Amino acid sequence: MRDAAIRIEDSVLTFAGSDEEFLRRFGGAPVAGETILDGCGKTAVPGFVDAHTHLPWAGFREDEFNRRLKGETYAEIAAQGGGILSTVAATRAASEREIAVNVHGRLDRMLLHGTTFCEAKTGYGLDRENELKQLRALFAGAEGHPVGVVATALPAHELPPERRGSEALKRRYLEECRAEILPALAALGARFVDVFCEAGVFDLAESRGILEAGKAAGLVPRVHADEFTALGGAVLAAEAGAASADHLLFATDEGIEAMARSGVVATLLPGTSVFLRMNRYAPARKMIDAGVAVALGTDCNPGSSYTESLPAVAFLASVGMGLTVEETLTAMTLNAAASLGEAVSRGTLEPGKKGDVVLLKAPSLPHLVYHWGVNLVEDVIVAGRPAVEAGLLLGSVPA
Ligand code: NIG
Ligand code: FE
Repeated sequence: MRDAAIRIEDSVLTFAGSDEEFLRRFGGAPVAGETILDGCGKTAVPGFVDAHTHLPWAGFREDEFNRRLKGETYAEIAAQGGGILSTVAATRAASEREIAVNVHGRLDRMLLHGTTFCEAKTGYGLDRENELKQLRALFAGAEGHPVGVVATALPAHELPPERRGSEALKRRYLEECRAEILPALAALGARFVDVFCEAGVFDLAESRGILEAGKAAGLVPRVHADEFTALGGAVLAAEAGAASADHLLFATDEGIEAMARSGVVATLLPGTSVFLRMNRYAPARKMIDAGVAVALGTDCNPGSSYTESLPAVAFLASVGMGLTVEETLTAMTLNAAASLGEAVSRGTLEPGKKGDVVLLKAPSLPHLVYHWGVNLVEDVIVAGRPAVEAGLLLGSVPA
């Protein structure tokens, strides 16, 4: 809509429509306590929602990035002791405070790129003490930050180094996840349970056991599914009543149909595809045509996708996966909110929803993906309060 106006009262959006109707209903002059932001020449979109991140971690893996540029693959590097386990070592060695400070910095960068709500996972602790430390650090880093965070318990992200070498050790770790770690993470405030369902990590039966135990602890399932092989994670997600199946580069037709039938959101992470040089994207068009709701996430993590920018991911979703501009925007707002159980209160500019608004320095919506590689986010309003103004953060409280 051109010549549009939005009104937010307290933290809730109460009007989105034409300037004309706005002026008729509310007049043009602010009364005491009201502020008017001039959006002239800008484009207003809902605050972006990042449906998949791994925010609370320590250490980087830029060496692995360069090794991939020289021809090694993600799997080869992981088999040599790199990959997730190298971040597990760094995260275990870090203090809770250090991780919280990292989270806070990452949330700042997300906000500067228009994200107002996100999901974030544990999964670099891989034992009770360190998984809980990661979750506490996530909440501490997010405390007082404008970006809202919902947490996912992912102790079954990999097999911890000290539980390798025999089937019995692996079984014992999975039992500990089910009986102790997941309930403890749920008690601390996690809302979702996730598992890396992948060849060489956790198979379908093991993944199902984790998701069912998570459900028993009150958590809603999401699944790292069909990322590197067509193991059947999408079907498992549908069977488990998951809110979301994520990655899905190798999702089968059967998996896509099962997701459509069960209302599982497909959270696609095209940043990971290019970062890992996979020469392949998830079959997004097929999913949309089958009636699956497609959401987007950055997958922000040090190994397979180091970015906080949803607009960067949006560009890849459009030019790489063939989503239209409108589908891309829907995927990074309403559908992402839906995958997090937040569609009632977030993801569109509609009366009754949270007053989370991004003003792009752009004359029309397509610029969001068409004018690529630059940050067009000019202002961000979170729950009715300015959080970014003229591209600059407004006083977020340091962790
Ligand atoms: O979503 N696939 C598993 N987990 C992450 C990778 C995490 C890492 O490499 O540290 C992902 O891509
Ligand atoms: Fe991930």
